[in-house]
Amino acid sequence: MKNRIIDVQVKVRRADAAQVKADVLALGVFEEGCCCAACSAINSALGDPVGRLKTLGDFDGKAQTTAMVYADGKAAARRVLLVGLGARAQCDGPALFKAAALAASKAVELKAASLGLLLYCGEGKDAAVSLAAAGQAMAEGVYFGAYRYDEYMDAAAKKRAAKLAATILTGDATVAATLTKGAAVGVVTGAAQMYARTIANRPANVVTPASLAAEAKKLAASVPSLRCTVLDDKQLTAKKMGGILAVGQGSVNPPRLIVLQYKALGATTKTPTVGLVGKAITFDSGGISLKPGEGMQDMKFDKSGGIAVLGAMRAIAQLRPKVNVIGLIPSAENMPGGKSYRPGDIVTTYSGKTVEIQNTDAEGRMILCDAIAYAKELGCKTIVDIATLTGACVVAIGTKRAGVMSNDETLVERLKAASALTGERVWHLPCDDEFVEAMKSKVADLKNTGGKWGGACTAAGFLSQFADGTKWAHIDIAGVGVWGADEKDAPGSIGFGVRLLAAFVIEGVRSREPGVRTRKT
Ligand code: BES
Ligand code: MN
Ligand code: ZN
Repeated sequence: MKNRIIDVQVKVRRADAAQVKADVLALGVFEEGCCCAACSAINSALGDPVGRLKTLGDFDGKAQTTAMVYADGKAAARRVLLVGLGARAQCDGPALFKAAALAASKAVELKAASLGLLLYCGEGKDAAVSLAAAGQAMAEGVYFGAYRYDEYMDAAAKKRAAKLAATILTGDATVAATLTKGAAVGVVTGAAQMYARTIANRPANVVTPASLAAEAKKLAASVPSLRCTVLDDKQLTAKKMGGILAVGQGSVNPPRLIVLQYKALGATTKTPTVGLVGKAITFDSGGISLKPGEGMQDMKFDKSGGIAVLGAMRAIAQLRPKVNVIGLIPSAENMPGGKSYRPGDIVTTYSGKTVEIQNTDAEGRMILCDAIAYAKELGCKTIVDIATLTGACVVAIGTKRAGVMSNDETLVERLKAASALTGERVWHLPCDDEFVEAMKSKVADLKNTGGKWGGACTAAGFLSQFADGTKWAHIDIAGVGVWGADEKDAPGSIGFGVRLLAAFVIEGVRSREPGVRTRKT
């Protein structure tokens, strides 16, 4: 049936893996050999494929490698997939995420409907990851690897089962209990990332600023503790949100500012509020400064920052950390036309600062600056924005990492910590005075493009002037948002930023870092 993305379920079960009837049983193998006693028992029952394949040189447990073994009745599963975990001491959360994702992807490719995972049981003192974190990472990995964007294809063309029921297995009851706790979190964040990928993958004739706002309202209605208000074009005009309005004025699909609010249970006036701001340009043609035709279809992904915030807010509201979070998603379609904003225009933004437009294709910063100023007004003490902002960021650091620029070192450290936990990689880039200087205009407070060099940094230098005094970080996801998927993976959005932002908020509470402290120390 059309309009159905794969239905993924993840559970944890204490069981003898040899007895589990699954279409595929994934068995984790370190470079050093089998993971634990339960793994070794299955391997022996199958006649030691781990040893035999190593001798043959076909499989040695390296990360991101697999080998298929057919159980021939020696285990209840129809197939056993050996999954390389790399060296035991290096097997952390991100490594388990990738291993589980690879197993789930292979299972979907085989049209499997059930997958058992005996990947990891935390044995050995040198374990690089806690059992709970392992449970979370494996659950998230299953959602990630099983995902295909095929809602506009019929069942035959989808070439997969309608659902994948995955079971994380262990023989030990205490291990099962801890894995269950972690997996409960992973199911939330994994499903949120999958949700984000689908919305990001939808084309611009389906996702407009108004339909995105309707989607956010629908989400908020389904999650208690999440509220959504939307400013439409009339309200944006009344509030003088000149940046969002300028970018949106050339399109028949008018702009919106989506505001999602999560209030911590028992929040007091002292509970701090974090602001997450995401760029949601539903299509970036460049406007009057039109982009070249080649590759322009990829600009449906120019909403990826906003969608990352949508997905992160879903996860955060379901996990209920003790901090208030406001998600702000300015959304517009950047189109050329008789009503479009032009190069040379001077736009008065929500903050009151004026901006000389030099290039209508530098539209992301024009919608973000209004949302950042509004986030400050709503009381956010820490603001993180995320956006597919510059091609220059892709030139600088490629398609596998996001650039992070900030006016606060501890914020960068917290984002790096969230990155290490999730495996969503970031790289620190500068945005100090020289880049602020580059954005000064001769006819207005600022101009919307810098010089020839350091385009990711000048864009951040522009935004920093709207954060002005508030702790702020900017995540440029141009590379990962648009071209992040590996060739062999499902093409399209990888939902980058959902897990990073959720981990940033949740770990911030856990470690009581400045800015999200829930009580005075
Ligand atoms: N959405 C683009 C940036 C982009 C390009 C993201 C390629 C992903 C892949 C952004 O709105 C843009 O057009 N930026 C311009 C800025 C320039 C005009 C200062 C760019 O990077 O060329
Ligand atoms: Mn643009
Ligand atoms: Zn753009």
